[in-house]
Amino acid sequence: MTAHVAVIGTGYVGLTTGAYLAHLGHHVVCADVIEEKVALLNDGEVPFFEAGLHEMVHEGIAGGRLRFVLGAATAVPGAEFVFLCLPTPQSEDGSADLSYIEGVAAEIGPHLEAEAVVITKSTVPVGTTTKVARLLARDDVFVVANPEFLREGSALHDCLHPDRIVIGSDDQEAAMRVASLFEHLEAPLIVTNPASAEAIKYSSNAFLATKVSFINAIAHLCELFGADVRDVALGMGYDKRIGFEFLRPGPGFGGSCFPKDSRALIRMADDVGYDFEVLRGVVDMNERQFAWIADKIAAALRGPLDGKTIAVWGLTFKARTDDLRESPALHVIDHLLERGATIRAFDPMVKHEIDGITVCGDAYAACDGADALAVLTEWDDFRWLDFDKVAEAMATRIVVDARNLLDPTALRRRGFSYDGIGRV
Ligand code: UGA
Repeated sequence: MTAHVAVIGTGYVGLTTGAYLAHLGHHVVCADVIEEKVALLNDGEVPFFEAGLHEMVHEGIAGGRLRFVLGAATAVPGAEFVFLCLPTPQSEDGSADLSYIEGVAAEIGPHLEAEAVVITKSTVPVGTTTKVARLLARDDVFVVANPEFLREGSALHDCLHPDRIVIGSDDQEAAMRVASLFEHLEAPLIVTNPASAEAIKYSSNAFLATKVSFINAIAHLCELFGADVRDVALGMGYDKRIGFEFLRPGPGFGGSCFPKDSRALIRMADDVGYDFEVLRGVVDMNERQFAWIADKIAAALRGPLDGKTIAVWGLTFKARTDDLRESPALHVIDHLLERGATIRAFDPMVKHEIDGITVCGDAYAACDGADALAVLTEWDDFRWLDFDKVAEAMATRIVVDARNLLDPTALRRRGFSYDGIGRV
């Protein structure tokens, strides 16, 4: 089946969705409100880094199956399916701000084809799909939830090989029409009502965030017990009910999803009169983790951070992305700056200035005259550097590896003191 599809919003979710739907053979029109962005995309330029996306956008444009237009109302005429891939930023009170979604729903309502299916794709609070249906003010169209589970850094792989496809609809036929868009993908299909589909997305992110905070707590304990968190996680992971994934301790979870979605779910729970204590603990634990890493650096230096120069490797919220949103590395840096340290940082994906810190051209330059080195993002490149050169560059040979990325033996051989996370 080949369909005419409109995708509203060309952020991470929207652009990836547009590109891979075109790759699956559909005719896709993507809309954005920023004129320069639309022009850039029509030239095949992708405004952020995501492996393989640039190539897939090119493939779509060259094949005549993918184009970009200004404004949602321009994109929807002729579309059988309209994906809403709009941001839901965090409001002051922790809830998700729905103004983009609401604005677009009101805008496209009059322009939709009869029988069109409007699909909420980006993460939207429970109840939004029903709200969109009201705002469209059309009784001849359908609104369906189809949450996206892609991870930055492996977005296309995740879209083309999903663990599951979730469709939330009160209309079985509309649900099946959406499912047919993905007929080439092999994945379990879950068809449920809109509220359950929306809840699946929040519960999945909140559960993964819980795993990360849990293993970070276990890492604390391991240091006190004299245990090694990597072996503990391995031993736990063989239990199929637990699994190996998301049990890597680190400086905390970040990015545009986990922190925002966890807070939004706590807020949604509050709104219906339920105190989601467990999830509040997860978020609190995560915020304490940033300070804990700063404490570890101070402890390794055996003194106050005031006046010290700290080299930082890694600024993005995780490896294989250029995304700095809610990056734990930046949160840890904030603590270090507050305590009077000077920061020299390097990240393979970050070349621009960042307030209050010196962004260096390579990993060695970041170490120049540094009193300690902190590894905050798990870029594989860092493992293969010349550590003799690192040792020479630093004023004192101290490493705090918040991702357990480097080889302690190789470092200790070169006279470094090494502190990982959750191991002695
Ligand atoms: C996350 C989910 O994994 C996706 O399924 C979801 O679609 C997406 O949010 C979203 O809602 O859009 P993403 O934010 O790209 O994807 O990043 P993850 O790979 O999940 O990592 C989130 C954070 O947890 C990162 O800071 C990462 O370093 C941290 N993490 C992850 C750990 O500290 N330890 C782990 O073992 C795993």
